[in-house]
Amino acid sequence: MKFAANPVDTMTYGEILDADWARLKDFAGEEPTRRRMRSSFSARFACVSLVRTAQCLHRSGWRRIAKLVSLCNFVIFGIEVPAQLPIGPGLIIPHSHGTVIGAGYIGRNVTIYQQVTLGSKLADFAYKPEARPHLCDGAIITSGAKVLGAVRIGVGAIVGANAVVLKDVPDHAVAVGVPAKIIASSKDMNQTEA
Ligand SMILES: CC(C)(COP(=O)(O)OP(=O)(O)OC[C@H]1O[C@@H](n2cnc3c(N)ncnc32)[C@H](O)[C@@H]1OP(=O)(O)O)[C@@H](O)C(=O)NCCC(=O)NCCS
Repeated sequence: MKFAANPVDTMTYGEILDADWARLKDFAGEEPTRRRMRSSFSARFACVSLVRTAQCLHRSGWRRIAKLVSLCNFVIFGIEVPAQLPIGPGLIIPHSHGTVIGAGYIGRNVTIYQQVTLGSKLADFAYKPEARPHLCDGAIITSGAKVLGAVRIGVGAIVGANAVVLKDVPDHAVAVGVPAKIIASSKDMNQTEA
């Protein structure tokens, strides 16, 4: 699978966080507000802030400190995200705990719920992006889903709760079950929150 360039490569740290914050507000059905320093202490935004901090440190060559920030995210919010993973703007992680985001690439405006695992089919400590899932723009991975191997989750596709995805999910499709199968659904998860 061929990977696009990191969608945040041309954005500053502040611009990325602004995009994440704006999408979170929209997702929660709240009025748009300017992101402030204290926004990073909001329960749903704190772990995304740490993901972005690690990502930007990594990009700037501060790799060890980036790893340390990722470790803090793991210890505090129970989420594992490699600092080198390309993640487009507009990331939402409504609840973080028990989540492993070992994807190869994550596009823009992606939502990842709690207890999700994105990773290779076998242990891959060397981190080979081509052996890992590719999430296209607007993909939604709901609670407890596992997406394993070099699969493509299409634009705006939804992976249902507790699904185990082993094959590509087409654009705007909904995949559920173990192993995951495509179902007919008109669900718009972008405005749905627990
Ligand atoms: C995938 C999902 C979005 C589909 O919603 P929907 O379009 O309303 O689907 P429906 O309820 O109409 O179900 C359609 C079919 O898929 C099945 N189905 C739906 N979700 C399923 C799931 N997660 N696992 C297995 N089967 C599922 C239904 O049983 C139904 O099967 P049937 O036609 O044989 O009766 C939804 O079920 C889901 O999993 N949402 C995630 C919720 C979540 O994680 N919320 C986070 C809270 S913090």
